[in-house]
Amino acid sequence: IILNLMIKDTDISASSQWYETTGPQFARLNREEGDGAWCPAGPLEPADVQYLQLDLRQLTFVTVVGTQGRYARSSGNEFARMYRLDYSRDGRVWISWTNRLGKKIIEGNDNAYTSVIKDLHPPVIARYLRIIPVTAICTTVCMRVELYGCPWTDGLIAYSTPEGQILSSPGHPIATLNDSTYDGVLERRRLSGGLGQLTDGVTGQDDFLQTHQYNVWPGYDYVGWSNDSLGPGYVEVEFVFDRMRNFTSMKVHSNNMFSRGVKIFSSVSCWFKPRLIADWEAEPVEFHTVLDDRNPSARYVTVPLGWRTAKGLRCRFFFADVWMMFSEISFRSGKMGSRCDVLQPSAPSHITWLLTTPNKGASTDDNSTSILIGCLVTIILLLVVIIFLILWCQYVCKVLEKAPRRILKEEQTVRLSSSSDTIVLQSPPVPPRVSQMDPHYERVFLLDPQYQGPAVPRNNLPELSQSAEASGFGGGYAEPDVTQCTPHQCFQSSVPHYAETDIVSLQGVTGSNMYAVPAVTVDSLTRKDISVGEFPRHRLHFREKLGEGQFGEVHLCEAEGLLEFLGENTPLPEWDGRPVLVAVKQLRPDATNNARNDFLKEIKIMSRLKDPNIIRLLCVCVSSDPLCMVTEYMENGDLNMFLSQREMESTLTHANNIPSVSMSDLLHMSAQISSGMRYLASLNFVHRDLATRNCLLDRRLTIKIADFGMSRNLYSSDYYRIQGRAVLPIRWMAWESILLGKFTTASDVWAFGVTLWEIFTLCKEQPYSLLTDEQVIENSGEFFRSQGRQIFLSAPPPCPPSLFELMMRCWSRDISNRPSFNCLYQALRPHVTH
Ligand SMILES: *[C@@H]1O[C@H](CO)[C@@H](O)[C@H](O)[C@H]1NC(C)=O
Ligand SMILES: *[C@@H]1O[C@H](CO)[C@@H](O)[C@H](O)[C@H]1NC(C)=O
Repeated sequence: IILNLMIKDTDISASSQWYETTGPQFARLNREEGDGAWCPAGPLEPADVQYLQLDLRQLTFVTVVGTQGRYARSSGNEFARMYRLDYSRDGRVWISWTNRLGKKIIEGNDNAYTSVIKDLHPPVIARYLRIIPVTAICTTVCMRVELYGCPWTDGLIAYSTPEGQILSSPGHPIATLNDSTYDGVLERRRLSGGLGQLTDGVTGQDDFLQTHQYNVWPGYDYVGWSNDSLGPGYVEVEFVFDRMRNFTSMKVHSNNMFSRGVKIFSSVSCWFKPRLIADWEAEPVEFHTVLDDRNPSARYVTVPLGWRTAKGLRCRFFFADVWMMFSEISFRSGKMGSRCDVLQPSAPSHITWLLTTPNKGASTDDNSTSILIGCLVTIILLLVVIIFLILWCQYVCKVLEKAPRRILKEEQTVRLSSSSDTIVLQSPPVPPRVSQMDPHYERVFLLDPQYQGPAVPRNNLPELSQSAEASGFGGGYAEPDVTQCTPHQCFQSSVPHYAETDIVSLQGVTGSNMYAVPAVTVDSLTRKDISVGEFPRHRLHFREKLGEGQFGEVHLCEAEGLLEFLGENTPLPEWDGRPVLVAVKQLRPDATNNARNDFLKEIKIMSRLKDPNIIRLLCVCVSSDPLCMVTEYMENGDLNMFLSQREMESTLTHANNIPSVSMSDLLHMSAQISSGMRYLASLNFVHRDLATRNCLLDRRLTIKIADFGMSRNLYSSDYYRIQGRAVLPIRWMAWESILLGKFTTASDVWAFGVTLWEIFTLCKEQPYSLLTDEQVIENSGEFFRSQGRQIFLSAPPPCPPSLFELMMRCWSRDISNRPSFNCLYQALRPHVTH
C-alpha cells in the first residue's frame, strides 16, 4: 500500500508551516501543489524539532520512506539532507525510531527533485508517524514524503518477555540473544510495553549465529532464553492487542539447532482475557509439539488457538532442551462478531494467504457491510483461483511440458512464496560508487542506468524457440526471434531514451493532472507549432457521437472536401468515392484553462507525429471555440473491443462462423504496435498509457496508436482513482511509475509487455484480474524489492514461450534489462504482413 494515496489532507499536520502555500497538505511526493512542498516556519536551527505528522488511521507496518525536496517547477531548491522519525501507536507515547545499530538519523536528499527511498530496518509498527528534518547548519528545509507499508492486521500492540540472554560456550562465538530493537521498557529483567524483533518481519537462520544483517553480532535475529537461568522450566510471554480479537492461530518462528542445545518448545499453554483489566480465564489452550531430532532447520510452529476471543494473551512455552530461541511471532485472528465467522470461517485467513503481503494480511475495517462484501468477494476469488489453478495445471501439463524449467519454477515460487510467512527485509544492492554513511540505509538510484539490480537469470533462448512446436499452436507463423535482442545491444543505441527533459506527454483531455509534464503555456503555442491546416468548421457534418470525456466529446463527422484540402500529402488511403469520415475531438467551451492547455499541447504534439502506426492529425479548428482536432476515423474501433469479441481461430470457429483471429494476426498486431512505439521512442515521446484500449483499427486492420483520453469513460475500471482526483492505468504501469511517478520510454516498454499480454489473452481478462487495485500497487512494491515475491502476469495459453519471454523482459525491474522498442520491433517484424 502506498500510504500517500490513502492519507487524507486532514490527517497530515505539522508543527509549523512557513506559509499557507507550504502547509503540510503539500507534502506529498511527486506532487507540485501549492508551493511544492511542506516547509516548517523559519530557517531550521540544528537544535530545532519541527515535524510533519501523519495519522495513518490504523496500526500500520511501515517499511519504506520516500523523501523529496521542494522543486516547484525549478523555482524551489530546499530539501532535507537528513531526517529522523518518531512514531506512536496510541498518539500519546512517542518513540524515536533507530536502525538496527542504534542510529536515529536517516540520510535524506541532496537535491530538490530526486525522490530517495529508504528501507526501514527495522520497520515501524505505528498509527502516527512524525518525520523530523535534521540539519547541521541553520538553513531552510522543505520536504515531500511518501510512506509504503501495509495494515498491521496482527493487531498486536505490545508483547512482554523475560530479557533475552547470552549464550557462551567454549569454541564458539558469543551469541547475544537480546531483543535489541524492543521499543518498550526493561524493568526487573522483563521487557514490557513494546514491540521488537519478534514482530520485525525478519526470521532467523537455521544457524542462530548467522544473521541477515551484516555488522551485527552473532545471534542477532533471535531472542533466546536458557532453562537453567529461568527456573520454572518455561518462558512466559504476554501479548496485548488493539481490540478484542477472535484468534485462530499463533505462529512462532523458532530455532531448532539441537546440536547446540536449542530446540523448539515441547508444549505451550495460553490463557486469555477479554479486557486488559480482568482475570485470566481459567481454561487454557494447550498444544504439544512434535519434537524433531533429525532436522535442525529453523521453522514456524503453528499453534491453533481455537477461536478463543480475547484482548490479552499469556503463553507459557515449555523448554524441550536447555535453550529456546524465537525470531518472530505472529497471530491470525478473525474479526470479533463479524458475519464472516458465520459465513466462511476460513475466509479472512485465505485472503492473507493467497493475495496480500503474506504475514501482514489484508486490511481490516469495522464496517460490517464491507465485511460481508469482502466475504463474498473472497468466496468468488477463491473459486476463480481454483478454476484458474485447474486451468493453469492443465496448461502446464499439456502445453508447457517442454518449456524451460525457469518459467515453471518462477510461477511456482510466486505462488509458494506468496504463502510464505516471512518478510525478509534486505537492502537492494548498492552501486559501488555511492559513498555510504550508514551501511543499512542505502541510496538507491532507481533509474540510474548504471545501477545493477539483482542478477536476472540468463535464459536459454535457443531452447525456448525449440519448444514452440510443443505449444500446439505452432504452424503458420514464425517464432519471434528474440535472440538478437540482448539487453545490452538494446540500450547502447545512440538515442538518449530517457532524457527526462525531453519527455512530452500524449495525454488526452480528461484532465489527468497527476501527470507532470513540462509546462507549456498557451502563449508559447503559436500557429507555427501546429503543422496542420485550419479546416473550415462548417464543412464538418456531424454523424454520430463516438465518445465523451470530462472535458470534451468525440464525434464522427463527414468532412466535405477534405481530400482536396489535404492535397498532395494526404495520409488517407485512396478514395473510393464514399464520403470521407473523420473523428473530431472537441473541447467543451467551458473547459478549464488547464484542459485547454492540454488540448493545445496534444494538438501540437500530434501534429508532429507522422507514422503509419500512429493516429494521424489531419487538420484542426482552433481559430474559434470550441477547439477541435480532426483525426482519421478508425472503423474497427479499439483493439480491446475488437479482440474481446473474437476467439482463437480453430476448426470450431470455422464451422460455426464465429469471428476469429489467427496467431499470425495477433503477431502482426503486436509488430505494428511495436513499430508505432518505436517511432514515438525515437522522438523521445512517452505515451504513458499504452494499452489495447488505446490502439485503434481501421478497415484494413491496420493498427494505429492513439490516446483519445475519452476511452477512460468506457474503461473506467482500468484506471485507479485517487480520491476522485486523478486516474492512473496502474495495471499497465511499471513499478517506478506507480511508486515514483517516473514515466519514461522504459515504462512504455513495460506497458507494451502488458499490451502484448492482453493481445494474447484476446482481451478476455483484465491484467492481474485477481488482484485489487491496492494489491496491484502492493505488487509494484514487490517489483521494487525484487525478492521473488512479485506476481507476474502468467503466460496466456496460445502465446509462444519465446514471446512470453519477451513480455517478461519488458517487466524487468531494472530499466536497462528491458528491451527497447527498436529491438521489440526487430523481434516481431517478421510478422508484418501486408
Ligand atoms: C544487545 O546486545 C548487544 C551486543 O552485546 C548490545 O550492543 C546491545 O546494546 C544490546 N541491546 C539491548 C537493547 O540490550
Ligand atoms: C528445565 O528446568 C526445570 C527446573 O529447573 C527442570 O525441571 C526441567 O527438567 C528442565 N527442562 C529441560 C528440558 O531441561
